[in-house]
Amino acid sequence: MTAPSGSEKLWGGRFSDDLADMGLQFSESTAADRPMIDEDIWGSQAHCTMLAACRIISEADLRAILGGLAQIRQQFADGQFDLDPQLEDVHMNVESRLREIIDPEVAGRLHTARSRNDQVVTDARMHLRTRLLELRQALADLQQALLDLGAEHLNTVMPGYTHTQHAQPISVAFWLSSYASALQRDQQRLAQTYERVNRCPLGACALAGTSFPIDREMTARLLGFDGVIEHALDAVGSRDFVAEALADLAIVASNLSRLAEELVLFSTHEFGMIEIDDAYATGSSIMPQKKNPGMAELTRARTGLAYGRLMQALTMIKALPLGYNRDLQEDKPPLWESLDSVQSCVRIMAAVVTTLKLRPQRMAELVEANYAAATELANFLVRERNLPFRDCHRIVGHIVGTLLEEGQPLTDYRRVRELLAEAGQEISEQQLAEILGAQAILRRQVSQGSTGVEATAAIIEELREEITNSRRQIIEAHQALTQARQQTDQIIEHILEGGELAELEL
Ligand code: ARG
Repeated sequence: MTAPSGSEKLWGGRFSDDLADMGLQFSESTAADRPMIDEDIWGSQAHCTMLAACRIISEADLRAILGGLAQIRQQFADGQFDLDPQLEDVHMNVESRLREIIDPEVAGRLHTARSRNDQVVTDARMHLRTRLLELRQALADLQQALLDLGAEHLNTVMPGYTHTQHAQPISVAFWLSSYASALQRDQQRLAQTYERVNRCPLGACALAGTSFPIDREMTARLLGFDGVIEHALDAVGSRDFVAEALADLAIVASNLSRLAEELVLFSTHEFGMIEIDDAYATGSSIMPQKKNPGMAELTRARTGLAYGRLMQALTMIKALPLGYNRDLQEDKPPLWESLDSVQSCVRIMAAVVTTLKLRPQRMAELVEANYAAATELANFLVRERNLPFRDCHRIVGHIVGTLLEEGQPLTDYRRVRELLAEAGQEISEQQLAEILGAQAILRRQVSQGSTGVEATAAIIEELREEITNSRRQIIEAHQALTQARQQTDQIIEHILEGGELAELEL
């Protein structure tokens, strides 16, 4: 049976004419749909299995549909099936191909109790969940690179900054682990987003559910979801999961941009504290001496893409009436683009950090050059001379002012001793060396979370444990998805070999 129509489209029944070429080009979404081909086919496999299990289609039809879908999947894997823009989107491409491979009347039963509205958002959630796991993996690698390099430098001092001015001495381990610590919150955010993403909208149909006795939980299980998004209208019409993922990505990008900025800054001649490996630096076409921190600069710049895609998605969602609107098709390009961009930035930063060379001598020189130990002198007077901190701040501030005028550093212990004596505080030069030496300062920092050797070693150890936990979560989530895929494959195999659904546990 063929429906009479003036339009060739699968949805063409009520149309007297076909979509104009210009209209088709303007509205087709095959480029953004291409990453979801596997998911779309899996979704159809699960859907028709459920339809047969609920006796909405016959097992003979199921067998034919599954056979056709298996071929399409194979053709896609072999590069013999790709999306044709003429067919609008991934769903229409798969269904059209199915109609070519099997009896079109049987193929036509696949779309029972389903709409492209619930189909597309199911595909997107399935693809996104895999991408979230990939990103978390890359982030864990970057965190580990930061901690591995840091752990070798618990005793290496460098200036710590506030206002981009020398503040207090810190260790290189403390500096690098700070980024690993921030990225751990990105891990947590992405894990929580995953929980909300991995819910199945399929079975919501166009917007209102269906009069067919479907089993949504079964489809969700077959597709590896942790459950369904129950409310049908909400399930097809909302894209807050897209905005949420993009917000996570924007925050990851902002964290990376700070690391990138410090890599650029600290590798300048003026700072000279680090050197980026040749493999991740770029040269100049005119200035032979140049070595530019190109990867860090591009990572810093691509933050704009991540922020922009978030704003794009939020604006697309804003004030949309409930239910599916074609506007929602515009959710996928920004999502995939931000995922691709941020993930490549995470990977390149991991490579840059892994190969980073440090210049401990220059770091030590800078720490001593600019009065970074002044707070420690004030702390000494508080501790040993029982003076109020404010008074000590004033005494030391006055000493620093005088040294500045005289052009002397705080390591001129002879002069510092004289100035302290003038302020009524007798401290020997030897004692001053112990108080003001950068290494000694690190040893004395004992508070939890401080730059002190033990405190930072503890931080690194805790972060390593959290990274191990993240990796375990990622593996477990992956295994759950693989298991679900394998279960669908086993069902398909069983049915295609002539077995019955009743012999299976679904
Ligand atoms: N290409 C569409 C999208 O990405 C698929 C859903 C189309 N639904 C519809 N009723 N036209 O959102």
